[in-house]
Amino acid sequence: MPTTEKTAPRAGSAAAAREDVLNMLIADHKRAKKSFKDFEKLDAQKQADACKELVEQTCAELQVHTTLEEEIFYPAVRQALKEQDLLDEAEVEHASAKQLIEQLQSMQQQGQLDGKFSATFTVLGEYVKHHIKEEEGELFEQCEKAGTKIDWAALGEQMKARKAELMEELLPQPAVAADQRNQA
Ligand SMILES: [Fe+2]
Ligand SMILES: [Fe+2]
Repeated sequence: MPTTEKTAPRAGSAAAAREDVLNMLIADHKRAKKSFKDFEKLDAQKQADACKELVEQTCAELQVHTTLEEEIFYPAVRQALKEQDLLDEAEVEHASAKQLIEQLQSMQQQGQLDGKFSATFTVLGEYVKHHIKEEEGELFEQCEKAGTKIDWAALGEQMKARKAELMEELLPQPAVAADQRNQA
């Protein structure tokens, strides 16, 4: 009898490999959303150091994620999809986020940790949440249609390797920060 229930893809299948790739990106999205939520709970004046650290860590993590998507994930999906609009929009959204991240980093370097700094991070959060919604809601759905036009297993391996390099290069203190955040 036909069933509409969604079952987990068979281990080792192309669908399972695709899910691994998408789950890797979704895990980053969840982390980013949690960071912006955590920031809302902080008092910018009384907890200035915690704010600064959270902004620094989140911006670095977003740089890892967006670089990974731009260098590897988007091009792989682009060559497999007929519809290019979503990817074009995604790249424009990344560019806007990048500008805000650069502004935040220069504000931090110059010690301008005022209301504008918090506002900039809040606006970045709004952009990022919108972008995540489009990726998870639309782009990832298109990825399912791309099927075997993408070698998902190879893509996953390539992304894991590059992510490790980017984390090493860009994150201020990956292990410590991740542990602390998990306890929060
Ligand atoms: Fe993403
Ligand atoms: Fe993205």
